[in-house]
Amino acid sequence: MIIWMTGLSGAGKSTLAQALAESMKAEGISPLMIDGDGLREELCRDLGFSDADRMENIRRAGAIALMASRSGITSICALISPLRRERDALRLLCDQRGIRFLEVHISTSLEICEQRDPKGLYKKARGGLIPKFTGIDSPYEAPLNPELMIPTESLSVEEAVESLKKKIGEFREK
Ligand code: ADX
Repeated sequence: MIIWMTGLSGAGKSTLAQALAESMKAEGISPLMIDGDGLREELCRDLGFSDADRMENIRRAGAIALMASRSGITSICALISPLRRERDALRLLCDQRGIRFLEVHISTSLEICEQRDPKGLYKKARGGLIPKFTGIDSPYEAPLNPELMIPTESLSVEEAVESLKKKIGEFREK
């Protein structure tokens, strides 16, 4: 299974991915965590934030998750992954291989992400210091039909993890 979290920078993807991973570990399942910042540091240093580079970033994350899946390992991926076509391409690959793909939209609004601004990046982007910043001058295409939406404005981390685990349970039974 691949649990794919998509959403704006600062939406809470990594926080939720980590909390979910901890909760799964406590139940004896060790998922593979792939998050955007970590991946870019380890494997994708050569990539920037053009559409083509983002596509390649997502392709690599997806490739790792597909390989893990073949070894029976669940992946939790937390990447902005702003373009529908790149997420849909991975969904198609999963469908073809009989791998469950759970797309989770961490749907925190731009307004709230910008207020939180945990890394100070929105401020820089608004000041013109970071070109092509997602949500500011680079598009974010929200999923049209995600398996799950997590509005972090109205859910605590614990509630969000519960909701994720419920959905994962339903998925496993399919
Ligand atoms: S993705 O678009 O290719 O999926 P990814 O999730 O790997 O993005 O990386 C996003 C992280 O990179 C952000 O949380 C932020 O810390 C950093 N970042 C740096 N420049 C940009 C930018 N132009 N747009 C979005 N995020 C950026």
